[in-house]
Amino acid sequence: MLEAIRRRASVRAYTDRPVSEEHLDAILQAALSAPTANNVRPWEIVVVTDSQKRAKLAQVHQWASFCAQSPVVLVFCADGRRQPHWWIEDSCASLENALIQAADLGLGTCWVGIRGGEGSGPGPEREQYVRDLLGIPEEIRVLALVTLGHPRGEPSPKPVGPMDAVHRESW
Ligand SMILES: Cc1cc2nc3c(=O)[nH]c(=O)nc-3n(C[C@H](O)[C@H](O)[C@H](O)COP(=O)(O)O)c2cc1C
Repeated sequence: MLEAIRRRASVRAYTDRPVSEEHLDAILQAALSAPTANNVRPWEIVVVTDSQKRAKLAQVHQWASFCAQSPVVLVFCADGRRQPHWWIEDSCASLENALIQAADLGLGTCWVGIRGGEGSGPGPEREQYVRDLLGIPEEIRVLALVTLGHPRGEPSPKPVGPMDAVHRESW
């Protein structure tokens, strides 16, 4: 497991090789097996392969251009009415499961943030852009896009995070 976790790295260049249905199914199963507060399971995932839709997703903001190039984009959404407080945690857990399962299959992914929030970060426009493009109902929140495909080139091995971030017994 640690090997798959450490193999995961953000991949922003992909070959044209399609993702098999078998691999896609394993990744979706992993996403839908995440922990979820009160067992609500608010997840909704849109699988996008259509090249015109991906080209439009690539324009959602300036750090999303490679959506046009990856053969699949997974759109991680949640029903915020059913899980008003915990939908972000539930969705992140689900998304991370998908990233790790993809890495274990030798596939590349990149998390592309979409969710709008309060304060100085992105506003609601990005979520609305994705909703309008894919016919997602207004009540559904859009957490992120995940590009998925066969990596072009080998991602470099990841250094382990500094262990001084770990505090034992007390800070
Ligand atoms: C909430 C979140 C939003 C992100 N949004 C983007 C994005 O819009 N575009 C992008 O290229 N990478 C995005 N990333 C990927 C990060 O840039 C990447 O995870 C980070 O640089 C660490 O690199 P690694 O994933 O290879 O470990 C995002 C990651 C997270 C967790």
